[in-house]
Amino acid sequence: MAEQIAIVPGDGIGKEVVPAAREVLESVEPDFEFAEADAGDAVKEETGTALPEETRELAASADATLFGAAGETAADVILPLRRAVDSFANVRPVRAYPGTEALKPETDLVFVRENTEGVYAGHESEIAPGVTTLTRVVTEAASEEIARYGFEYAANRGESVTIAHKANVMRTTDGLFLETAESVGAEFDVPTDDALMDALAMHLVQRPEEYDVVICPNLAGDVLSDLAAGLVGGLGLLPSANVGDERALFEPVHGTAPDIAGEGVANPSAAMLSAAMLLEYLGYESEGERVRSAVKATLSSGPHTPDLGGEATTGDVTEAVLAEL
Ligand code: NAI
Ligand code: MG
Repeated sequence: MAEQIAIVPGDGIGKEVVPAAREVLESVEPDFEFAEADAGDAVKEETGTALPEETRELAASADATLFGAAGETAADVILPLRRAVDSFANVRPVRAYPGTEALKPETDLVFVRENTEGVYAGHESEIAPGVTTLTRVVTEAASEEIARYGFEYAANRGESVTIAHKANVMRTTDGLFLETAESVGAEFDVPTDDALMDALAMHLVQRPEEYDVVICPNLAGDVLSDLAAGLVGGLGLLPSANVGDERALFEPVHGTAPDIAGEGVANPSAAMLSAAMLLEYLGYESEGERVRSAVKATLSSGPHTPDLGGEATTGDVTEAVLAEL
C-alpha cells in the first residue's frame, strides 16, 4: 500500500521550501499519497487555533509528516505535532557540505537527542513569590529507548557513539541515563565513549571530526546541536527528524525567516535533506541517498541562494536538484 505523507508547510519560508521538498519526493517516489494541512500563525489568525485538530489527526495517522516552520506559534504547533507522532528521538545530522562556508568543513556527526523528558518534561512551578523550581525527569525506559536508537544508528553505519551527560553533578538522573546507555551499548559492537557535556561543547568546537553519533539528554542535545550547527554555517542546510516507532515527523531546523519570506530566495536544501531522512525512515534508502547526493552536488556546483552568497531563487535550486535526480 502506498505510504501516506502529510505535508504541513506552516508559515513564512515553510510555504516556499516545503513545496520544493515535496517535488523532490514526488520525483523519486511517485507512489506516495500526499495530504496537505495548515498550521501556524496564519491559520491562528483565521480560525483562532494554531494547530487545527484535522492537522494534528493527519500527522497522527500519516506514515510520515514533512513540516516547514511556524512563526510566533511555533511552540503551540511543533510540540503537539511531535507528540502526535509519538516521537522519542530527535535526530539532527550536522554535516558540512562542499561549496558552503563552513567554519569546520570536517564536521560530520549526528545528535540523537532524547525528545520526551529531562528538564523539558514541563514540571516547573513557582513555590513562593520569587522562588521557582523545576523537576527533571529521567526514566530508565526513555533512556534505554534513545540509547538503543543511537547505537543501532551507529552500528548500521559503522560509526562510534559518544554518550553526553553530566553524571558527576546530576548523579541520580544523569547517572541513570549514563548507566542505562552503557548497558545498552554493551549489546553492540560499537566503539563507545562518554563525555561530560560542558567539556564536550569545547571539544566539538575544536575537533568535531572526532565525533560520529552523540546520544544526549533533552536539554544537552538542544544546546549542543545548535552549537555544532554553528560549525557548518547556515541554517538553510540543516535537516532533522522526530522519530517514533510507528511514524515520524521531518523538519528543517530553521524557522520562518521573516526577513526573506515571500521573496522566493529561501534555501530549500534543509527541507530537501529532511525529505531524504523521511525516505530513509520509510525504508527507501537508495532514494534517500539519491536525494542527498543531488543536494550535495547542487551545493557544490551551484546555483546558490543568497544565504550561500549566490543570486539564485528557490526555484532555480529546486530545478537544479531535480535535474541532478
Ligand atoms: P530563522 O531560522 O527563521 O531565521 C534565522 C536567520 O536565518 C534569518 O536571517 C533567516 O533569513 C536565515 N534563514 C533561515 N532559514 C533559511 C533558509 N532556508 N534559507 C535562507 N536563509 C535562511 O530563525 P528566527 O529568525 O529566530 O525565527 C523566525 C521565526 O521562526 C520566529 O517566529 C520563530 O518562532 C520561528 N521558528 C520556528 C521554528 C519551527 O517552527 N520549528 C524553529 C525556529 C524558529
Ligand atoms: Mg533548539
